[in-house]
Amino acid sequence: MYVPIARPDISADELEAIVRPLRTGMLVQGKEVARFESQFSAYCQSPFAVACSSCSAALHLALSALGVGPDDEVIVPSFTWITTANAALHLGATPVLCDISLETFNITEEIAAKHITDRTKVILPVHLFGNAAPADRLLDLIRDRPSSNPIFMVEDAACALGTSIEGRPVGTFGDIGCFSLHPRKAITTGEGGMLTTGSTMMRQVLMSLRNCGADERQPDQPPYVLGDFSLLGFNYRMTEMQAAMGQAQLLKARTDLEKRQKLADRYRKALADLGWLRLPYAPKSTVHSYQSFVCLFAPEPPTLQNCDDLHQRLLQLMGLLEEMGVQTRAGTLAVHNTSLYRNALGYKPESCPNAYLASKLSLAIPLFGAMTEDEQGQVIDALHKAAKQMKL
Ligand SMILES: Cc1ncc(COP(=O)(O)O)c(C=O)c1O
Repeated sequence: MYVPIARPDISADELEAIVRPLRTGMLVQGKEVARFESQFSAYCQSPFAVACSSCSAALHLALSALGVGPDDEVIVPSFTWITTANAALHLGATPVLCDISLETFNITEEIAAKHITDRTKVILPVHLFGNAAPADRLLDLIRDRPSSNPIFMVEDAACALGTSIEGRPVGTFGDIGCFSLHPRKAITTGEGGMLTTGSTMMRQVLMSLRNCGADERQPDQPPYVLGDFSLLGFNYRMTEMQAAMGQAQLLKARTDLEKRQKLADRYRKALADLGWLRLPYAPKSTVHSYQSFVCLFAPEPPTLQNCDDLHQRLLQLMGLLEEMGVQTRAGTLAVHNTSLYRNALGYKPESCPNAYLASKLSLAIPLFGAMTEDEQGQVIDALHKAAKQMKL
């Protein structure tokens, strides 16, 4: 048996849902999208949700809607998917890549505070792998800014549907939240993204920007009259088939979250004896939604000096696990260590040391709602066998 890192839970419900719009001929951004948005906003306890084509698109839309431009800085943790930072770069702004806590893999308020300048326009925390970044405390940092020079918060909740802080879902703390509906996420529409916001005005701007900058149609405007375009927008629309599938997926979201948490509990118990593997840490009063179960390979305390050697040993471990039918992946990348960001902004590995270490030493092992007990048993056994073989 081969255990994949993730497998979306697709059943007859999704198959039936997808053909619904196909039968009507209305294929893009119609009633299915509107219904999905309203169900998603209810699930996330957000006043509004706006669908789009991916979370990368959502991040681009969010920063555009907040007016981010060439003179602005956007604080982004370096350990994330590259498009979190690219959203700022696409608008001519400067992504200020910052370090993370190696314990949570997330930004902290202390780290963010160090990077705030007069040019900071947005703090963009990432709730990585479903683990909540301290959105509440980051808000405290920026609350008392002068109204002439505010700092906004956009939450990258790509991996964090179901994650909460003191019972409040993430994505509702900042001005805008951005979710991904990619197949490795809790619910999927193939590709797809969702924005959440509490502001009526922001919702309108986001809806216009995702639809090529078109103005909202007035109720008394005949459908055959061409509307106006006031904003420089994008075609980031969601299709009706994606939205129909999303509704079917959303019905499973709560049970999927419970299944993920049970699987995570079993891993915690069964892997506790592996001293070289640091298991995910969720801060108190938060709910971790376990989009992925990402550990740190640490047979000795990792440093920039021993990192390359540890990385080679981790690759050997991943190779052994692959041979035993267990797919693994790195958690994610250190954006500051990509050629794009090194060349454009002069970053070096030591600019964000923990993000660098995490990119070299993180290990995602399979976890997904539809995972069977046998599949998880195989992963647990394989990790123990590989450890013996490698004398870890
Ligand atoms: C933290 C984070 N942000 C943004 C994205 C981009 O999401 P999408 O693939 O929907 O564009 C991802 C995707 O994996 C992600 O993990």
